[in-house]
Amino acid sequence: MFNLFKKKKEEVKTNSYLPLKVREVVKETADTVTLYFEQPEPFLEYKPGQFLTVILDFEGKEQRRSYSLCTSPFVDPYPGISVKRVDGGLFSNFLNEKIFPGKTINMLPPMGHFTADFHSKNQRHFFLVAGGSGITPIMGILKSVLVNEPKSKVTLLYCSRNEAQIIFKKELEKLESANPERLQVIHNLSQPTDSWTGLRGRLTKDRVQVLVQKAESESDFSKEYFICGPDGIMDTTLEVLDQFGVSKDQIHRESFYSAAAEKAHEAAVSGSLGGLTREVTVELEGEEHLITVSPDKTILESGLAQDLNMPYSCQSGLCTACRGKLITGEVKMDEDAGLSEKEIAAGYILCCVSRPITSDVKVRIE
Ligand code: FES
Repeated sequence: MFNLFKKKKEEVKTNSYLPLKVREVVKETADTVTLYFEQPEPFLEYKPGQFLTVILDFEGKEQRRSYSLCTSPFVDPYPGISVKRVDGGLFSNFLNEKIFPGKTINMLPPMGHFTADFHSKNQRHFFLVAGGSGITPIMGILKSVLVNEPKSKVTLLYCSRNEAQIIFKKELEKLESANPERLQVIHNLSQPTDSWTGLRGRLTKDRVQVLVQKAESESDFSKEYFICGPDGIMDTTLEVLDQFGVSKDQIHRESFYSAAAEKAHEAAVSGSLGGLTREVTVELEGEEHLITVSPDKTILESGLAQDLNMPYSCQSGLCTACRGKLITGEVKMDEDAGLSEKEIAAGYILCCVSRPITSDVKVRIE
């Protein structure tokens, strides 16, 4: 029996907002800015590599997107997020163009597991792989290792399109020259200028293999692998780590609300993907509710709009607060990297980035 119960929207907002005032806007590249915020009172507590969820109103409708902190709480006096502009992306364009110092933005407190704990006694090799704006959380981790673990070292393999697209280029150069024994930055550019002397072309398995082999042969250091970037780079690196038998506990991967996800979202909203309006059954607290999901909406958006008290937080496919189990039917997720392989294999989905593609979708929120 279907039963659509009514709850006030206020009850749905389980997290209290964190207003942060923009202190500085730094243009990192032609299409990426870093927004630094004044410290709130008390100071913002976060771990390097975590993300903030930005809450904005567009045409009277609250929307959320998550962006990784690029700063380290151990080094940087002010927290900052970096935002790369996506063609047609509502949030990324707004944050690149319309934000200025003095403006206050509502956020959700820092979240995320793409991080590490540090200790001065550790002797570790952090092998960091970043692609494009995936450098953002990696940057916070890199700085934190250098300052907290004098016996640890860092290799950063960083893939960008060309020289002009390298985010934090100068800061990385400075860090490398200040830590010549402990930090090695290797750039891989897919479309560099003729004068580029470093790695060029797509990141291949061979390239990753050489570096991982070297890291794995050093018995003095325990290894931690952190990967953040587009699917191709993540998959290539994960395949190599698998070949070398690197334990899953040593591998940390993070998807961010990626360009692909933002594009998929905007395409769905603009209707360019086509698709049908479908009925979806959501089982919540033991009761079944039938909701209507139009092609421009996710299951979560539709459920909330129809007054269903579904749990959620980041609305960006990262925090897993909206996780549900797909009982029947099929959905397409704009982004699935917030879920582990095990969760995906067990049929879990993230309602905030899922759209039904069959007419028999039933999701159980557990
Ligand atoms: S609300 Fe965070 S993953 Fe869906």
